[in-house]
Amino acid sequence: MKQLQNKCVLLTGASRGVGAVIARTLAQRGVNLALVARSRDLLQNVAGALGRRDQNIRIVTADLTDDNDRRRVVDSVLEAFGRVDVLINNAGMETEGAYLDLSFADIRKTVELNLLAPMALTHLILPHMLENKSGHIVNISSIGGKSGAPYDATYCGTKAGLAEWTRGLRLEMEGTGVDFSTIFPGFVTEVGMFARFNMKTPRVIGSCTPKQVAAAVVKVILHRKREIVVNSQPLRPLFALSEISPGLGDWLMHRSGAVEFQRRKVARGK
Ligand SMILES: NC(=O)c1ccc[n+]([C@@H]2O[C@H](COP(=O)([O-])OP(=O)(O)OC[C@H]3O[C@@H](n4cnc5c(N)ncnc54)[C@H](OP(=O)(O)O)[C@@H]3O)[C@@H](O)[C@H]2O)c1
Repeated sequence: MKQLQNKCVLLTGASRGVGAVIARTLAQRGVNLALVARSRDLLQNVAGALGRRDQNIRIVTADLTDDNDRRRVVDSVLEAFGRVDVLINNAGMETEGAYLDLSFADIRKTVELNLLAPMALTHLILPHMLENKSGHIVNISSIGGKSGAPYDATYCGTKAGLAEWTRGLRLEMEGTGVDFSTIFPGFVTEVGMFARFNMKTPRVIGSCTPKQVAAAVVKVILHRKREIVVNSQPLRPLFALSEISPGLGDWLMHRSGAVEFQRRKVARGK
């Protein structure tokens, strides 16, 4: 996609956190936006802070863990816009805690929102993109999708699944005009699920800002990038080392302070 002006974007998780910043960034580029989340009031606040008169900004309230809601979202957005040029699967939840302290209902819900919802929305929207021979699906994973972390195994599992599912579909859809990208943010400062803990990450692990995540969304679309890791520290070499040697990878997780950091984060969240 060479430009974003007048494109129709369906953005999930738009009511707060990183999603609200992505919405602002895209609105500034003249995008028509369908903003999806459960909280109507928050969506209205986000939408109210955007709107230029020539832009079409819609809000759709939905619980994306619900199959009927997901269908309703896609139907209503297609009806409103007539097309979806870009789907951004940003809605997500973290279920941190010792694995056996979590209820299986919470584990299931995390998988449903972080992994099955993007799969379901894509299943509904992809036929339209293929018909138009154009489209882009952007999935917001996490550095946890590159390297599993203790007390966050379920979340990391969903984010790793999301990333490899994206890679598989990208290869399958080559030449169709539909692109697939994954963004791997590090710990996001200022807003969102990590900022609530009010903690500083170990230096080696680093962090990123929501604006950097939003800029990465724009970049993958305009430059057809497959993947971007958004982080202040270069983590790809560490991910590569962990791939070559899982034992070394575990050692690095301890050595970098990541394991201890996760323990402290969970203790703080209790
Ligand atoms: N923050 C970080 O440090 C960080 C790091 C790496 C990756 N990420 C990823 O970035 C994305 C955004 O994270 P964030 O920090 O902005 O999270 P957040 O502040 O917790 O916001 C989550 C968003 O998802 C929506 N949502 C939650 N459950 C939903 C449901 N059942 N149905 C529909 N919408 C739902 C929320 O809206 P409602 O509550 O109104 O429904 C909200 O808009 C997530 O995929 C996350 O995994 C975040």
